[in-house]
Amino acid sequence: MSIHIGAQEGTIAEKVLLPGDPLRAKYIAETFFTDPVCCSTIRNMLGYTGLYRGERVSVQATGMGMPSASIYVHELIHGYGVSELIRVGTCGALRKNMQLRDLVIAISASTDSAANRIRFDGADYAAAADAELFTAAVTMARERGIRFHAGPVLTTDNFYSENRNSLYWAEWGHLASEMETNAVYTIAAGAGARALSIMTVSDSVVTHEITTARERERSFDAMAVFALDLLCAHGRA
Ligand code: HPA
Repeated sequence: MSIHIGAQEGTIAEKVLLPGDPLRAKYIAETFFTDPVCCSTIRNMLGYTGLYRGERVSVQATGMGMPSASIYVHELIHGYGVSELIRVGTCGALRKNMQLRDLVIAISASTDSAANRIRFDGADYAAAADAELFTAAVTMARERGIRFHAGPVLTTDNFYSENRNSLYWAEWGHLASEMETNAVYTIAAGAGARALSIMTVSDSVVTHEITTARERERSFDAMAVFALDLLCAHGRA
């Protein structure tokens, strides 16, 4: 057990999918895993382990935002020996050419959070995806003919007050705004683990369009399968 994850030692796989929402973790395990076992319920931040196409894999909810995601990623890696993590979430598009439900594969994550300034004594840290996972994801998305965008994202602490500022980030190459990737990439890199963040566009910061709950469900399903295929060896490029 770690402070926030109730799983017994050895019950979490080395490869873990990270949705923000606990009910999405439950849904992924019950829909896509064979023999899913719930291994953590602390704070209802659900975690499960099962088999995906014969390979042992886990899913652990992280909650929203960097402080919450940091706790789960830290404990998964340092407490349970997790070595590969894929965040599956939603993001707000910062560019006009992006459509709702498109996939975003984050090569790096800038942030308006002060967490890394504190961690790196005032210096700026470039939080980046694991290069091999990122390349495999781009290759797989191309092969499958999925509509996707690969590039930098903004990890923000300000969901409701970021719109004007986040469009400014688009002028500096950023594709989308979300709330966890910078923390996931930083903590994984610092521990020698591999991480990638993939997201579906749930809304547009440019046009203010939003997906319906039903559309979010459908695109989430497609993304979960994509991420599981990527995590499990047979899906690698
Ligand atoms: N901003 C931040 N996080 C998000 C957004 C957004 O527009 N959409 C989904 N997660």
